[in-house]
Amino acid sequence: MSGERLTASASGALHGTIVVPGDKSMSHRALILGGLAEGVTKIYGLLEGEDVLHTARAVAALGANVERIGPGEWRVEGCEWISPDEPVYFGNSGTGARLLMGAAAGFPISVTFTGDESLSGRPMGRVLGPLREMGAGVEAADGDRLPVTIHGGNLNGLRFVNEKASAQVKSAILFAGLRASGAVEVVEPARSRDHSENMLRAFGVEVESGEVARLGAKRTLSGTEVYVPGDPSSAAFPLVAALIVPGSAVTVTGVMLNPLRTGMFTTLVEMGARLTIANERDFGGERVGDISATFGALRGVTVPAERAPSMIDEYPILAIAAAFAEGRSVMHGLAELRVKESDRLAAIIAGLVACGVEAREEGDSLIIDGLRAPPLGGATIDAHHDHRIAMSFLTLGMASHEPVAVTGAATIATSFPGYAELMRSLGGRVE
Ligand code: S3P
Repeated sequence: MSGERLTASASGALHGTIVVPGDKSMSHRALILGGLAEGVTKIYGLLEGEDVLHTARAVAALGANVERIGPGEWRVEGCEWISPDEPVYFGNSGTGARLLMGAAAGFPISVTFTGDESLSGRPMGRVLGPLREMGAGVEAADGDRLPVTIHGGNLNGLRFVNEKASAQVKSAILFAGLRASGAVEVVEPARSRDHSENMLRAFGVEVESGEVARLGAKRTLSGTEVYVPGDPSSAAFPLVAALIVPGSAVTVTGVMLNPLRTGMFTTLVEMGARLTIANERDFGGERVGDISATFGALRGVTVPAERAPSMIDEYPILAIAAAFAEGRSVMHGLAELRVKESDRLAAIIAGLVACGVEAREEGDSLIIDGLRAPPLGGATIDAHHDHRIAMSFLTLGMASHEPVAVTGAATIATSFPGYAELMRSLGGRVE
């Protein structure tokens, strides 16, 4: 990623066919499950972003043999995990840290987890609570924040009824449960992404998914091959750019289309977006397809709270689309956005207002009055250690009157290395 500060300016029409880096959720899981499995796991298409590289280093520190063979191609040989000599550092990655806390808790070892400023402020109690109930020893900073030390081993089963849908919490419990005695079940009010269940099954574990995720009797993992398709959360950035930059037509091929991840595309279609999906196929246990977006008028939309789990990471970029739409957009049920890589609700609103768009919160809802015309832009937005805030406002800058600068843009490398270069290859002015 080119430097800390990136500026996006009004671009000519964006054109081209691209692929985006591998799915972040699946990449973390592939490394962790490979590290737990007996034998060799080969991973193809791994996201080599900072977040996932932290997980790779952590899995190696826990004793697994983790090797990069070539671009996106990794080999992991699992083992009985050991206590690392030093704390494992997760940078910006909530997913990596929380999933690994669960996996490590199953072993009779002690592991200390640390992270950057953003991650150190994020709540870990949501996974530490159930892990304590399973019998793990836990030390944590005030408010169950990092640094966290897990003393694992000898876990009992747990039926955990979560009050909100969270794939991170569900996955941490399932991963801890692999080495627990007794039934392990997670009940959620709405279904969260099921990549952990799908991948556990591919590694030979008996697991049911659905309203209740439940481990079966067979909980040992055997090494396998994992193919990671393109990340729909990353694809959303070039696709929305194509929808709002006049004259654009962009295709992203090989995008993962797991139905628990596609709320953003459903919403864009409701806004009148010219979005088509072609070549739908199964790839490595997940649905994938090629998504094309063509510039055209958008209208405001109301997004129900029930849809949030299937597009939880896409609200920042949806907010940008809403700024260009005709009429009001209202997005409900966004409390979780306050505890992501940044307080995303606050960052979205402050950034939009600085660019001349009317945006406000009401309770846990976000309200944006679309402009029909391109927003003024002309602001400098701080990324707040949040890759998705950075890419969202750069997207706005490609279609606004005045350029938009983003400081702290290096954070984009956590999930989308090569973002600026890829946008430039489509004709985007991101310097
Ligand atoms: C993720 C789950 C989501 C999402 C995060 C990745 C995962 O978080 O926001 O970026 O890979 O399990 P929650 O499970 O906390 O909703």
